[in-house]
Amino acid sequence: MSRLLVCPPKYFQIDYEINPWMRRENAVDPSRAAGQWQALMKVLEEEVGAGIERMQPVPGLPDLVFTANAGVVVGRRALVSRFRYPERQREEAHFAQWFREHGYEVLTLEKTLYFEGAGDLLGFPDTWFGGYRQRSDIRSFPRLSEIFQREIIPLELIDSRFYHLDTCFCPLSGGELLYLPTAFDSYGLAAIAQRIPEERRLAVPEEEAIRFACNAVCVGKEVVIPAGCPRTTHLLEARGYHTHAVELDEFMKSGGAAKCLTLALD
Ligand code: ARG
Repeated sequence: MSRLLVCPPKYFQIDYEINPWMRRENAVDPSRAAGQWQALMKVLEEEVGAGIERMQPVPGLPDLVFTANAGVVVGRRALVSRFRYPERQREEAHFAQWFREHGYEVLTLEKTLYFEGAGDLLGFPDTWFGGYRQRSDIRSFPRLSEIFQREIIPLELIDSRFYHLDTCFCPLSGGELLYLPTAFDSYGLAAIAQRIPEERRLAVPEEEAIRFACNAVCVGKEVVIPAGCPRTTHLLEARGYHTHAVELDEFMKSGGAAKCLTLALD
């Protein structure tokens, strides 16, 4: 069974602006956010069959809900993120504590290396891709590669709206890739093309990428995708995936959706 770490949105709001989606005046509706989050949990547990681990929300840490940024977990080892912005650096200790209390060996990178966890490190069993420049530092990847013994292909994120790799790049269980080509430069596109054959590359239209079509959770043949992405849904269904649409616009006010709200624990 696939296990996911999540954090209830009890203190979720827009307290600061660290990406182009966040505007303080665009306040979160707390009861709508809670309802959307509960609906996401219900789909993950009942329709996808994922196991859910809930961590305690912390007052004053509105973005703790985005557990994809906690770090990267491989087996019993958890490498905790080092956030670029001070607003989120205070989350690091809480994620580290959760991992420690749940029996993980907690690893960290050198202080000077920003790395924002599974938000910027995604891939297939053997090859990983690392998104950099907006948040994570490209220099973190050689260290991560050494620690986890995986090849990591760096991809520069060139569009500030797609500031974490998981906003524009979503590897699927069958080896296909859902992605927004314009979020990458020509080097990145060539690197992707070299690893993933054309028939497996599913380009998402920009009007759906801005509705976070790439921020999907794929477990086996089940894909949980933000609502309002019909063309992406069609691409997925044509490849034999079952899609589950979830309304997540309250979280998009902060620049996140389904994938950001979960961290794969295995
Ligand atoms: N407001 C959060 C931030 O800017 C959103 C994080 C979304 N997480 C993600 N994995 N894309 O850091």
